[in-house]
Amino acid sequence: MKQTAQAPSNIAIIKYWGKKNSKLDLPFSSTISINYNNLFTQTTVEFNPKLQKDAVTIDGKSNAQETKRVSTHLDIIRKLAKIKTKAKVVSKNNFPKSSGLASSASGFAALTAAGAKAAGLNLKEKQLTALARLGSGSASRSIPSGFVKWEKGTNHQTSYARSLYPASYWNLDILVIIVNNNAKKTSSTQGHSAAVSSPFFNIRTKNLDKKIKKIESALKSKNFKLFGQTLETEALELHAIALTSIPPIIYWEPKSIQIMKLCHALRQKDIDVYFTFDAGPQPVLFCQQKDTPKVMVALKSQVKDIQIIKSKPGEGTTITSNHLF
Ligand code: PMV
Repeated sequence: MKQTAQAPSNIAIIKYWGKKNSKLDLPFSSTISINYNNLFTQTTVEFNPKLQKDAVTIDGKSNAQETKRVSTHLDIIRKLAKIKTKAKVVSKNNFPKSSGLASSASGFAALTAAGAKAAGLNLKEKQLTALARLGSGSASRSIPSGFVKWEKGTNHQTSYARSLYPASYWNLDILVIIVNNNAKKTSSTQGHSAAVSSPFFNIRTKNLDKKIKKIESALKSKNFKLFGQTLETEALELHAIALTSIPPIIYWEPKSIQIMKLCHALRQKDIDVYFTFDAGPQPVLFCQQKDTPKVMVALKSQVKDIQIIKSKPGEGTTITSNHLF
């Protein structure tokens, strides 16, 4: 039977960068993220005995490399369900994919939830998060709702994600700024493998537990300044690792830097706004409702040709009946 899932993309506030075990997609440290309430992948999966091979369409196109990655993930699901049937997969994103807005997170979360159900598996949330992790590490965090922690674990079962707080816990404004619509040149997979070559990688790993405690305490007390400072330091650290890895990776564009500086200038005027980035050029700003209009005015008047998506913390992955075929 065909099944459809809708999964949100998420933004990491403590980030996954470097794989401890690339086969199992195990991180060196636990990570924390927030789901977006309006950036989604919707995916329909149907196992069909008439098919000779998997047929995969993403945003209206079929691509051999993407089909291979999807098929590899479906193979894991097939093995669990003890079936050999090939599948038709149709998927669509409501945001530009591969531009650093974590389409692999929402993509593999939706594929996992729809695929597992279509294969007749009845998995608990924890198992689904671990299964999604095998497609893309950050996908594990797109399954539970709201503010989510991916526990690093030491094996497949213990490396899973869980909700720390529901989406409604903290009414933050998240501004996703598209400075560049082109697909990025260096995938996060390449970035992960280069990360460990940075001379700063071990220092970062050593300090991460402390940073996780800091952000957990900021979340618990809803201390926005501490939350913002910590998430910004964390993003700069990930990019410092990328910049100093071999080969070096420069994800930022001139406008990314302009917006970072704008955040700092706004803070001088007591407008509390902090930035983060994934592995891409698009800044993601966090602010509180009282400051959002001022941040929007500053962005629109000072930075040319950008697209701003206003988002908030959102729910996790859901099964729907809005099939795509
Ligand atoms: O899930 P992956 O393997 O695409 O890695 C995600 C990497 C970052 O987005 C940069 C950080 C994160 O934790 O989401």
